[in-house]
Amino acid sequence: MSYRLQGGRRVRRVTNAGNSMKITKAGLPLPFGWFFVAQSSQVTAGTVSTVKMFEQEWVLFRNQEGTLGLIEAHCPHLGAHLGMGGTVDGNSIRCPFHDWAFDTDGRCTDIPYAIKNGETLKKRAHVGRLPVKELDGIIWAWFHPGNTEPAWPINSQLPPKWQGTTPRQAFAFEINCHIQEILENAVDYPHLFCVHGNEARFAIKNEFNGLHRKSEMADTVSYLDDDGKKIAFPYLITVSQTGPGQGLVYYRRMVEIAMLFLATPISSTRSVLRFVFYYGEVDSDPCIDLLIEQFINEKIGKPADASGVYADIPIWENKVHREHPLLCDADGPVMQFRSWFGQFYPAN
Ligand code: FES
Ligand SMILES: [Fe+2]
Repeated sequence: MSYRLQGGRRVRRVTNAGNSMKITKAGLPLPFGWFFVAQSSQVTAGTVSTVKMFEQEWVLFRNQEGTLGLIEAHCPHLGAHLGMGGTVDGNSIRCPFHDWAFDTDGRCTDIPYAIKNGETLKKRAHVGRLPVKELDGIIWAWFHPGNTEPAWPINSQLPPKWQGTTPRQAFAFEINCHIQEILENAVDYPHLFCVHGNEARFAIKNEFNGLHRKSEMADTVSYLDDDGKKIAFPYLITVSQTGPGQGLVYYRRMVEIAMLFLATPISSTRSVLRFVFYYGEVDSDPCIDLLIEQFINEKIGKPADASGVYADIPIWENKVHREHPLLCDADGPVMQFRSWFGQFYPAN
């Protein structure tokens, strides 16, 4: 069996070791779906920035009318990089080399010095673009390796009380790993105990339903009070995913926190994983504030003691993809997850 990458290149398994065959990380293709690009608040009118996603560079800009554009980085004229000196002019971005202008759909709107063929050439001088949408303070892009329009609309995953609000805190990690390997952790329940020391090992509910999947589990977090006495707080955790790029962990009990976990492919072997937090206004109760602060610190962790996500990163960066893993009866639904995730790869 082989895997097809973009451009038709095939990568074959490098070993043949019975039921535990492995393939290289490069064997997994790019999935299609909606993916995090940036926080809305960081892209004000007139902002131009370069983002690397989906094996190439893109230029993200907001025109003076407030509309976002996410277009291919290089100008169709003589190839200048629109993100390196390009400037917003009205509804368009102007190339730094010869001032040609392109709107948020990548259409050429001006060739300022053409004499006779400007209008004709404008129709041909377009750059590729990705559909974008703003939701919950986040700019999302639809990506499909075949450049198709969105196969489903993007909807908020947040609990209603936080829909339409802006993130309270966000963290980003660049990781040398395909996004499927990162997201598979969400159903790898034993790793929560083995790697993170969490008390809950098993999900109490698992559902795979079309574009969506959901799991619930009970967990306990313990804190020491001022007298050094351990106080345990039970949590109910709901994890839901829609497509490959949208994920939510909703923690409910003493405090409520929504954490979006959002993986965006930079390439088939490098990804950005983001944790984006939404929670109620900072409470006047210092105990609640402390719980939220400790909770976020615990989820993010520290590189020095390899805690939180820093415990996962070296595992992700050095693992291989086992196509036929040996799973015990208490492992999570890894193969169901892979089958569900597989729907987001283009058909050969
Ligand atoms: S390279 Fe962009 S206008 Fe010439
Ligand atoms: Fe983890």
